[in-house]
Amino acid sequence: MATIQLEGVSRRYGQHTVLEGLNLTVNHGECFTLLGPSGCGKTVLLRLIAGFEDPTSGSIRIGDDLVADAATGVTVPPDSRDLGVVFQEYAVWPHMSVFDNVGYPLKLAGVPKEERVSRVMETIALVNLHGLEKRLPSELSGGQQQRVALARALVGKPSLMLLDEPLSNLDANLREEMRFEIKELQHKLDITVMYVTHDQEIALAISDRIAVMDGKGAIRQIGSPEDIFEKPVDSFMFNFMGVANFLQVRREGSGFFVGQGGQPVPWDKPQGDAVAWVAAFRPSDVIIRRDGAGLKGIVKRASFLGPYMDYLVEIDGTHLRTSVDTHEAIMRDLMFTDGEPCIVDLREKHWFDAQSLGEVGA
Ligand SMILES: Nc1ncnc2c1ncn2[C@@H]1O[C@H](COP(=O)(O)OP(=O)(O)O)[C@@H](O)[C@H]1O
Ligand SMILES: [Mg+2]
Repeated sequence: MATIQLEGVSRRYGQHTVLEGLNLTVNHGECFTLLGPSGCGKTVLLRLIAGFEDPTSGSIRIGDDLVADAATGVTVPPDSRDLGVVFQEYAVWPHMSVFDNVGYPLKLAGVPKEERVSRVMETIALVNLHGLEKRLPSELSGGQQQRVALARALVGKPSLMLLDEPLSNLDANLREEMRFEIKELQHKLDITVMYVTHDQEIALAISDRIAVMDGKGAIRQIGSPEDIFEKPVDSFMFNFMGVANFLQVRREGSGFFVGQGGQPVPWDKPQGDAVAWVAAFRPSDVIIRRDGAGLKGIVKRASFLGPYMDYLVEIDGTHLRTSVDTHEAIMRDLMFTDGEPCIVDLREKHWFDAQSLGEVGA
């Protein structure tokens, strides 16, 4: 059973605390993604699980094995943790052929030649590199080199794979293709995958569950991709998962009003005692009209982006991004020009206490 269990894991370098008291459980067979901004401690966490570093405090279990425990000093070396690792830099040996790169871990482990050859060829086929086994890495594309790294991580038949931004050096098309391949491999091999990335789209596309870390290395939310995107727990999460609009709203008596301008809020009201609120919504959740119910705004800038129109709308001093399907805009007389008045309504919104806004810089 390739589960991962972190309990109270911290990692410090001198005075600098990167991770603090982290608790996390990854289930067997799961594709679990750690998503967070650059520099938040994702690679450090992966290196702790892999065993390239030891936690300053806390413990790590893989399956039933305690592989690291700061309290007792237990630390199991990386090659005894039954896992494969792929890092962002291709990290394949430039002087070795594809075959030798992939076979290296088996050679180290003393696997007899005959078995080695069959396992290497099997793994090379698995990552779609058949026919290329005699090539040197310099004779391969970036995507192929990363497949070599994948094959080398898989050849020992680990039950756990740790992937650290393995696709970020690839171009957009290849990145998309390879993320499906990784998912397919995971199902085919029935392994547990822990994937680390700063890319929201990849995380949403491949994960069974996602843990989102903030810039300080703290986990802010764990959930399915749908939960993370549709039910963000706070405004940090909402902001982190895509283009975000925030509209300040204040309570006066039993009424709710927008910003300082005083337009009454025409939508369902927030539940709670706070006075200062913020309505958070995506550009695609804005309905823009020429008249009818909604908030009055002014189109400050209209940009034609092909499939959709990107309007920057001002409502009482707050600027909002909206995106309208171009065909719909043409059919419904919604091709606004700069300076025209408009009405703004929302399909979907999240209410957050305005106090939480400070940290997202909105
Ligand atoms: N060996 C080290 N010594 C000191 N600081 C380190 C070391 N490794 C990582 N850090 C620091 O830990 C923080 C997180 O780094 P990292 O895990 O690489 O971030 P990312 O989320 O981008 O992978 C950074 O501030 C980095 O400078
Ligand atoms: Mg990193």
